[in-house]
Amino acid sequence: MEFSIKIGLPLKQKMGCIILPIYESAKISDAIKKLDAKLATHIAALIKKGEIEGKIGQTLLFYPALSEKFERVLLIGCGKHKALTESQYKEIISTATQALKKTPSTEAYCYLAEIAVQDREVAWKIKYATELMYELDYEFTEFKSKKSHTAKIKRLRKFYWLIDNKKALYLAETSLEQAMAISEGVKLTKDLANTPANICTPSYLANKAEELGKLHKKSNKLSVAILETKELKALKMGSFLSVTQGSPEAPKLITLSYRGNKKKEEKPIVLVGKGITFDTGGNSLKPASSMIGMKYDMCGAAAVMGVMHAAAILQLPLNIIGVIPSCENTPGGKASRPDDIVTSMSGITIEIANTDAEGRLILCDALTYCERYHPEVVIDIATLTGACIVALGSQASALMTNHQPLANDLLKAGQTSLDRAWQLPIWEEYQQQLKSPVADLCNIGGPEAGSITAACFLANFTKNFHWAHLDVAGTAAKYTGDKKGASGRPVPLLMQYLINKINNK
Ligand code: BES
Ligand code: MN
Ligand code: ZN
Repeated sequence: MEFSIKIGLPLKQKMGCIILPIYESAKISDAIKKLDAKLATHIAALIKKGEIEGKIGQTLLFYPALSEKFERVLLIGCGKHKALTESQYKEIISTATQALKKTPSTEAYCYLAEIAVQDREVAWKIKYATELMYELDYEFTEFKSKKSHTAKIKRLRKFYWLIDNKKALYLAETSLEQAMAISEGVKLTKDLANTPANICTPSYLANKAEELGKLHKKSNKLSVAILETKELKALKMGSFLSVTQGSPEAPKLITLSYRGNKKKEEKPIVLVGKGITFDTGGNSLKPASSMIGMKYDMCGAAAVMGVMHAAAILQLPLNIIGVIPSCENTPGGKASRPDDIVTSMSGITIEIANTDAEGRLILCDALTYCERYHPEVVIDIATLTGACIVALGSQASALMTNHQPLANDLLKAGQTSLDRAWQLPIWEEYQQQLKSPVADLCNIGGPEAGSITAACFLANFTKNFHWAHLDVAGTAAKYTGDKKGASGRPVPLLMQYLINKINNK
């Protein structure tokens, strides 16, 4: 489907479907009156008959024989005629999209970017709503022998956002372009994450990264490199290697470098994604019910790929590097044991008290590896702790940092994209929980503040740069049930962060 923006209301076109807001109090908006007097009278009569009141969530579809301009009209209740909250706006767009899907329209003209939302401009409304529409249209049918036909929206060839103000056009178009690229990134992230671990292995991820490099070959900005076991050994990534040693799948350290800014002094933004393709817990085996959904333990990696893809589509004038340590965490004769002591690339020794706290073991070496890039900032993204789901649920990703301005930027990007994060502290006092009697660090910090101590563990490896950690265990996927699936988060947050970076330059 193609999205575009049109100023004013199109006349004389025979259109598939026009989507119009109606309010509880004002009943018929001025827009409709201006649009078509006959239609306005007709709508007024429908309201009078009680066909629709204008409450949020209500819709009414009709075929106005009275008007030659519109083949099909979809009225969307927008509540009282006053500025809406963001979540009300979300509900309205979702309702409209579901109702539109049920029609056989091939074209739609939508006036909903003009409804008032508290503190939000037209450009934001278009961006948010477009991403939401892609989101609602997503299906993972790769492994269904009968592909579903529920995604009727695919019939829609063209979707127009109607706006009134010509001055808003430039920003609106930029936003729309961003929304489409971000949605492509989100889709890639979801597809990768939803692919099960018997197919989505570290090698599969490495191949997908290489494919991404080829896909963006034309612009010549994205290059991909894969490091194998031999090289990981040479780098002395003893911590990362300890996690993979029980698995027959070869580990990979995937790096994607996007150079959108050729200036020599331009330091890169480095994104590190946890790429555990399946987390059984290893010898500290997870109980069966907790193992369900552990194919999603590479959502951080998938998000990094999604961001690289979207950034390359948009040709962002930034340097961005994606670093993905990927392996499988399995038990077995060769697997690491509780009590093992390993030496990380940084030289810090780690007592593995629980092989299920494996994310931090692969990330610590990947973070040390980041030093070679002399990064402006490093942001890691990981489904790191179950405790994060307990603390924040699925609304917010947990954010921890050693550099407050970076946290502020990420929190702000989360607010704008509504892919929100919430900060937790990583005060030095928490480090006590990570003390080991036999090594420099222990890989678990006990039952208290599990998400924080996991981040504190990583903080030992990020002292040489500005760093933020996003624990996305609660936000990146739903792990069980018939609605299980990846969300594509935090791609929207990270993309907004990058876009804001460019705008603030
Ligand atoms: N991948 C899990 C975290 C997780 C749990 C993500 C549930 C998504 C849903 C991680 O590797 C893990 O197992 N963490 C342990 C840490 C513990 C052993 C300190 C956990 O959260 O139980
Ligand atoms: Mn684990
Ligand atoms: Zn894990």
